[in-house]
Amino acid sequence: MLWVAGGAVPRQANCARPKTEIVERPTSFALRRTELRQLEKIAWKPGRGCGQVENSQIRDILVSSNAAGRRATAVLRKSRVERALAMNIRSSFFSGTNLDNFATSGALRFRARAAIPGGAHTYAKGDDQYPLLAPGFIARGLGCHVWDVDGNEFIEYGMGLRAVSLGHGFPAVVKAAVGQMSQGTNFTRPSALEVECAERLIELVPAAEMAKFTKDGSTATTAAIRLARAYTGRDMIALCSDQPFFSYDDWAICTTPMNAGVPRAMAELTQGFRYNDLSSAEALFARYPGRVAALILEAEKEVPPTPGYLATLRKLCHRNGALLIIDEMITGFRWPGCSAQSHHGIEADLSTFGKAMGNGIAISALLGRREIMELGGLNHDRDRVFLLSTTHGAETHALAAALAVMNTYRDEPVIETLHRQGSRLKAGIENSTQRRGLTRYFKLAGRTSNMVYACCDRDGVPSQTFRTLFLQETIRRGLLAPSLVTSYSHTNDDIDRTIEAIDGALAVYQKALEDGPEAHLIGRPVAPVFRRRATSTSAGTPRTKVRG
Ligand SMILES: Cc1ncc(COP(=O)(O)O)c(C=O)c1O
Repeated sequence: MLWVAGGAVPRQANCARPKTEIVERPTSFALRRTELRQLEKIAWKPGRGCGQVENSQIRDILVSSNAAGRRATAVLRKSRVERALAMNIRSSFFSGTNLDNFATSGALRFRARAAIPGGAHTYAKGDDQYPLLAPGFIARGLGCHVWDVDGNEFIEYGMGLRAVSLGHGFPAVVKAAVGQMSQGTNFTRPSALEVECAERLIELVPAAEMAKFTKDGSTATTAAIRLARAYTGRDMIALCSDQPFFSYDDWAICTTPMNAGVPRAMAELTQGFRYNDLSSAEALFARYPGRVAALILEAEKEVPPTPGYLATLRKLCHRNGALLIIDEMITGFRWPGCSAQSHHGIEADLSTFGKAMGNGIAISALLGRREIMELGGLNHDRDRVFLLSTTHGAETHALAAALAVMNTYRDEPVIETLHRQGSRLKAGIENSTQRRGLTRYFKLAGRTSNMVYACCDRDGVPSQTFRTLFLQETIRRGLLAPSLVTSYSHTNDDIDRTIEAIDGALAVYQKALEDGPEAHLIGRPVAPVFRRRATSTSAGTPRTKVRG
């Protein structure tokens, strides 16, 4: 979708139409002047001077000008990119902006959209999650700093969707992974590293007796679900409906509004229960007696478990013949003791780890009790479970990276630092929101090692528009902060610069509460990942309802 903006002043009946300019530069690189003029005609909204053009309309125009095929594959000539840029830069838009040059990102964005569905390989990293004025592509990172393809530098707080807890390019991890790469990464028989890494992980997680590796979190949680089904001989599973994501696989995606391509029958087998609400889980077991194989949840998210909740939930599962699966994808290597299980003193039957375990290198794991995990092995007479057997699951460089991560956590105060720097950041931000009277509108949540924030409008209601404005203003000030997740590499200086930048962004937020966010936001607001249609901006209704 392309946003076309006209003059900032509302159009008077007799005033000349302001010159229309393409705000979202990247797509305009692909357009000729004649095509631009056609788009302006479609986008022009009398009295507002701006509007949206659908992708299909852009496509129609390109096709009708007989250029579509060439555009889709062409490497744009430099002169053309420069002309397009010159045509689209409107300096008044960017006055007061520190970071405003996203030209190379813009050019790449066009090529990305032509070559990759959605323009990115992870939805949460996609364009629709960021304001128009944002770095589209990151070239490199070091510690907690990243540089985009235009050379802009940011202090970052997304940390690769929380996959990087030590910092980008962390020397000990790089050394271990590169060293192993030069020795070969994938052999015809297992490597000794598989054994060493499994043993170290089992030591770290008290309830775990066996481990199996794979490459991403989704595959690990899906394996846990399959194992639970095989172990209990039951089909139905239940996931915590207050937590957004467990896997890209059908059993989990069937519960979201983005469920196209998932057989409807899947939705019958996945039920929901509420976090910190035992009666919701009890009602589930009462409704489906003898049918639920497992409950899966993150032990803690934005709010901690109420005292006794996890232990009672575990008992409830076992009393009803079901397993308890704890997904530690985010909590693993971030919570004290390296897992939420250790921190809350709960023993899961199965648990899953990933993300920070490889500090950005793809490695994840399924851990669990021996008698369950063995169903994927050779020491039993029951039907065998096809458990996480993949070509790439135990690549040696990733295992070496995971060992280097575990060594660093053992030898250095990593988790303490994540919390300490998060606390410093939290104190600074709360000071700013209090001083500016914004405590009702900008709120922090979660443990200090893993903070998120909520942006609310004038009525105190969560608002995508205000979130986009906050992102835009923090990006302008050199932050990339879709969340406020700290790493071992965030120094006091980084945190203090961040607090200052956020205070500046909150000053704009304050003004926007008075005169409306539209006066400050360039382009469209961000949209939820899980929405039924690309063109919609709301989340829609999930298929799975929580009953009871
Ligand atoms: C709690 C949780 N579980 C599972 C996953 C899936 O992990 P991956 O994206 O590595 O497949 C995620 C990813 O964000 C997650 O947050």
